[in-house]
Amino acid sequence: MYNFSAPSLFLSLTNVLVVFNPLLLSSKTVNVNYKITMKPDVFPRFEPVTATWQYVVADPETRDAVIIDSVLDFNPASNQISTETADRLLSLVSENNLTVTRILETHAHADHLTASTYLQQQLVNQGKPRPDIGIGARITQVQSTFAPRYGIEDSELSNVFDKLFQDNEEFTLGNLGAKVLHLPGHTPDHVGYLIGENVFTGDSIFNPDVGSARADFPGGSAVALYNSARTLLDFPGHYRLYVGHDYPPETRAENEAGEKYKPYTTVKEQREDNKHVNTGTIEEEFMKFRLERDSMLGEPRLLHQSLQWNIRAGRLPKATAAGDMFLHLPIKASKQLMSIMQGAKL
Ligand SMILES: [Fe+2]
Repeated sequence: MYNFSAPSLFLSLTNVLVVFNPLLLSSKTVNVNYKITMKPDVFPRFEPVTATWQYVVADPETRDAVIIDSVLDFNPASNQISTETADRLLSLVSENNLTVTRILETHAHADHLTASTYLQQQLVNQGKPRPDIGIGARITQVQSTFAPRYGIEDSELSNVFDKLFQDNEEFTLGNLGAKVLHLPGHTPDHVGYLIGENVFTGDSIFNPDVGSARADFPGGSAVALYNSARTLLDFPGHYRLYVGHDYPPETRAENEAGEKYKPYTTVKEQREDNKHVNTGTIEEEFMKFRLERDSMLGEPRLLHQSLQWNIRAGRLPKATAAGDMFLHLPIKASKQLMSIMQGAKL
């Protein structure tokens, strides 16, 4: 167990021709009746410092778009936040003439800070409509777990997310249908977003040669993670599973552009090749592996900063009377030293 030491709108398309557009990493489907059909344009953007895949997903007709799992740059040596990565997403949005209707999170990340509030505010500053920030409804559980540990007041957490999605809730992206899938295990609030024939899986599965995410955060569960992966593997074989992170092993071949990072593989590839959970993997086998592996993993580098930031949807902490803002970091020491220090009389 991870040792936390701090306190249908989906269109069923038949008779279609598929044209692959490598620039967009998406397929344009052309109906034989020559109607424009309903598949999103997907713009994956990799953030290398935290190995995070961010996505802008757009309806090619209306140009409405969602942003999924954005990253705010953070330097833990100086505690400096900056927005180069988020600003590149905003540039992508404007260069492609998109209107962001929602900013989505798959879960409260423990390894990077979200740019959701920054993006929302900047879009408003540009005179664009204010997009909702959305996340699975169980974020309230995660907030309740961590707020007392970090000393965050309820007033800093209420209504920071505009939209709390229920399981299987549907919404529209322009003329496209989208659906929220509860995919717990890595975290209890974890969801995926099904848009057309793509699932944005967050950390509920990783690319086949990476396997799966840890399941030892508070509220995490290896069994639940197994079942979430099975849910994903039950989608049709040609559906694409877009991952939340990528950590390519040495053995992975580069693509034509000389890059190793991959935003997605198909369900079929995952069923056949996922090294942790494929068609033949039984639950007990996965649980045994996951529990052993997780017991050896260290703390994510930005664990405490990320959690305090992300349960606030990326808003700044309340300022002190002097106007400073703080994130809390837990002190670590041996039990013996802690006992000595707690008893110290000055
Ligand atoms: Fe995560």
